Amino acid sequence: MPAKVDDSHVLTGETLLARFAALDAFLIKHQALWKPRPFTHRQLPWEASYPELAEWLRGRSLEEAEQSHNQPCLLDAPEPFASLAALSLELSTVGELPAHALEASGHRLNVDVPGRKWQQIEAFASRLQFADAPSHWLDWCSGKGHLGRRLLQTGQQLTCLEYDPALVFSGQALSQRHQMHALHVEQDVLAADAASFLNADHTPVALHACGDLHVRLIQLASAEGCKQLAIAPCCYNRIRLSEYQPLSSSAKRSDLQLSLENLSLPTSETVTAGARVRRQRDTSMARRLAFDLLQRQLRGMDEYLPTPSLPSAWLDKSFADYCHHLAALKELSTIGPQDWSALEGAGWQRLAEVRNLELLRGLFRRPLELWLVLDRALFLFEQGYAVRLGTFCETPLTPRNFLILAERP
Ligand SMILES: C[S@@+](CC[C@H](N)C(=O)[O-])C[C@H]1O[C@@H](n2cnc3c(N)ncnc32)[C@H](O)[C@@H]1O
Repeated sequence: MPAKVDDSHVLTGETLLARFAALDAFLIKHQALWKPRPFTHRQLPWEASYPELAEWLRGRSLEEAEQSHNQPCLLDAPEPFASLAALSLELSTVGELPAHALEASGHRLNVDVPGRKWQQIEAFASRLQFADAPSHWLDWCSGKGHLGRRLLQTGQQLTCLEYDPALVFSGQALSQRHQMHALHVEQDVLAADAASFLNADHTPVALHACGDLHVRLIQLASAEGCKQLAIAPCCYNRIRLSEYQPLSSSAKRSDLQLSLENLSLPTSETVTAGARVRRQRDTSMARRLAFDLLQRQLRGMDEYLPTPSLPSAWLDKSFADYCHHLAALKELSTIGPQDWSALEGAGWQRLAEVRNLELLRGLFRRPLELWLVLDRALFLFEQGYAVRLGTFCETPLTPRNFLILAERP
C-alpha cells in the first residue's frame, strides 16, 4: 500500500518527494490496468483477473459512460474499482494555492479575451506571491501576451516570447492600444538561441505552454539562474521524442516507462461539447470500432490496425462506402458480402463497452498527471528552488489547473 499522504495542503519540500514516491508505487503496481487502451483491444488483459468488474462495465450504456467520464472516482463499481478510486482520490488531491487580491486591471485588458481564458489568467495571476517583487516578467509562449499584460505593474518590464507571427503582431498592437511597454518577440523557444532571452532578473510565467515548451523553460530558467518562476503545465504528450524523458533524479530512478500513448492519458477527459459535436465524435468512433472488427476478419488477424484521422466529410458517406474506402486506403483485400447494419450496430455496442472500460483507466488520469507535474517540481527543487505545488482554479475552469511556483531562497 502506498504511504498515507497529507492531502489537504499545497505540496512543498519533502512532501513533494513523499507524494511522488506514493504515486510512483501506485502507478507501477497497477500499470496493467491503465496502460492498455480498450479502443485497441477486443479483450483487455486485466479482464481475466477481474471478470465481475469487466462484465459490470461492459453491461452499461454509452449514456452511463458519458455521465461518469469526468468523475470516474464516484462510480459504484465492483472491486477493485472502489478501492482504486479511493486511492486515486487520496493520492491526487492537492491543496489550492492561497490567492491574494489582484490590483484591478485598469485598461479594460480583457477586451478581446474569451471569458474563460480571462478567468484562468486572473486565477493564475492571483496565486503569484514571491518574496521579492518581480522586476521583469517573461511571458513564455505568450500567444497575444494577455497574461503578461495582466501582471505588468508600474516600474516593471514585460517580454513576451511567441513563435506565431500573427499572435506576436496582435500582441504588439494590443500592448500599444493599452499603452503598455511590452516587448513582443517572435521566437521559437525550442531553438538553440532561446536561452539568450532569459536572464536572472526575469520572472518567467507560462500558462499552458505544451509539453516540451514548458520543460524547456524549466531547464533554461534554472540554468540561467532565474530567481522565481510560475508554470501551469499542459499537453504532456506534445514532446519530440517517443518516450518520456524524466527530469528529476527521483523520476529517473523510477521503473515507470511512459510512451506517447501513455502520456496522452492525463489530458484525455472529454471537453464539454454540444449534442451535435458529441454525436459526430461518437459516430466517428463507433465506425472506427466497427471497421476494426471488419479488418480483423479481412486480415485473418485478431489485431488492431491503426487508421489515419479522416475528414469529417467521411461521416456523410454510407457506412458501407466508409468501410470500402477505408479498406482501400489501408490496401486490404476486397470486402466480401457483409451484413452492414449488424456490423454498424456492433461498432456502437463496442463503443459503449470501450467508454465504460475506459472508466477504470480514468482513475489513473489525475495520478499520472500529478506524477508528471511532480517530476517538474522535483527537478526545480533539486536545482535549489523552494517549490510550492497546488491548484490555481477549480477543474471546470480548466482541468489543467496545477501550478508550480518556484523561487530561489
Ligand atoms: C496553449 S497556447 C497558450 C498561450 C498563452 N500562454 C495563453 O494562456 O493564452 C500555447 C502557445 O504556444 C505557442 N507556441 C507553440 N510552439 C512554440 C514554440 N516552439 N515557440 C514559441 N511559442 C510556441 C503557440 O503559438 C501558442 O500561442
